Formats: sequence, structure tokens, C-alpha cells
Amino acid sequence: MIKACLFDLDGVIVDTARYHFIAWKALAEELGFEFTEKDNERLKGVSRMRSMDILLEIGGIDFPREKKEELATRKNEHYRSFITKMEPNEILPGSTEFIKELKKHNIKIALGSASKNAMTILDRLQLTDWFDAVIDGTKVSKAKPDPEVFLKGAEALGVSPNECVVFEDAEAGVEAALAGGMKCVGIGTPEILGNAHLVVSGLHEMSFEKLSRLQ
Ligand code: BG6
Ligand code: MG
Repeated sequence: MIKACLFDLDGVIVDTARYHFIAWKALAEELGFEFTEKDNERLKGVSRMRSMDILLEIGGIDFPREKKEELATRKNEHYRSFITKMEPNEILPGSTEFIKELKKHNIKIALGSASKNAMTILDRLQLTDWFDAVIDGTKVSKAKPDPEVFLKGAEALGVSPNECVVFEDAEAGVEAALAGGMKCVGIGTPEILGNAHLVVSGLHEMSFEKLSRLQ
């Protein structure tokens, strides 16, 4: 029996990847190398500091830890200049409708995101009140594909992992859900998210009825 849905944020409820891209690209240019949209794919679902390492690997440079932290902070300030101006019309199609439908059926809702900016984004999108629990990058120590973020979400909601369905757009997120013993709906394409129990192109393709068929 499904009692809870756990949602990743970036790429599932909102498309923040383009803001991350602009900010990482500006940093790469400052450091003297190119960073493409294809490179940006590698950063999806990945923590900020791991993203920093991948970016520097692409540029073929390395810095001491302190310098990397300073650069990541600067990138984050640039990124925040975009997300602090986000509007509810940036919520991806179908998200609000699906969450409302779940609530009507007494399904609990949690966020499970690697982002330390999740609360800012939820507030800007006026979505905060819909979530019974928020587990974000400030509350976890192990990054996806480790299941920590989703297990903490289930615990906060008072449900067992096998009563949860996770919605994820990143391969590492799908792996995290499966490692946690949860069902997973991939948001994207089966080529990348083939291990999920179901793959849809967006939450607009979801319904309570489809969710119920997962059990
Ligand atoms: C994930 C994004 O949700 O959050 C990643 O998919 C991002 O691209 C990560 O790096 C960390 O985000 P933030 O907001 O803490 O820098
Ligand atoms: Mg994501």
C-alpha cells in the first residue's frame, strides 16, 4: 500500500538546471575554459562540492580545498541571484495538480533533494505548505545514490520505505530510491532511468490511478 510520495526538486518540480548551468559556465569562463550544456548533464543530482570537482576535472585544473569552497560559494551566490527571483509559473506542468490529487487521497508528501537551496526555491514557488517533510542538502551527509535522503524522508513521515514512491530525474536518484527499498518513478527517458519501476516525461503524465498501479 502506497502511503507517501517523495519528490526530488530540481528537474522534477522545477527546472533549475538552466540556472545552475549559467552560473557554472560563468565560473568556468572566468577560470579560462569552456563548459557546455552536455557537461552540465553530469552535474544533475550531484552535490555542490562534487559538481565543483567535476567542473574542475573538465577544465583540467585542481585547487586546494579552501579555494574550491570559495569558488563554489561564489557560484552559489550567482545561482541564488536567479532563484530568489523565481515565480510560481516556473513550476513544471502538472506538479501542483498531482500533489493536490495525492493530498486528496491522504498520501503524505516529502521533498528529498541534494540542494541546500531547496527551501528558498519552495518558498519562491509557494509550495512549502504542501510538504509534510523537507529533507534537503542541509540535512544529509551522504549524497545520492546513497538512500539517506529518502530514508530520512520516510522516517519524518512515519512510513516504511516499502510504502513510499520516489520521483526522480537523475540516475543516481533512482539508484538511491531502489537502494532504500522504495518504488521509483523516473522523470525523463527510459534510456537513462531504465531501472525505475515506471518512467514518464513529467509529472503532468502522473495521476493517483497510475500511482496505485505501481503496487
Ligand atoms: C541537485 C541538483 O538537486 O542539487 C544539482 O540536481 C545540484 O545539480 C545539487 O548541484 C546541489 O544544489 P545546491 O543548490 O545545494 O548547490
Ligand atoms: Mg533532480
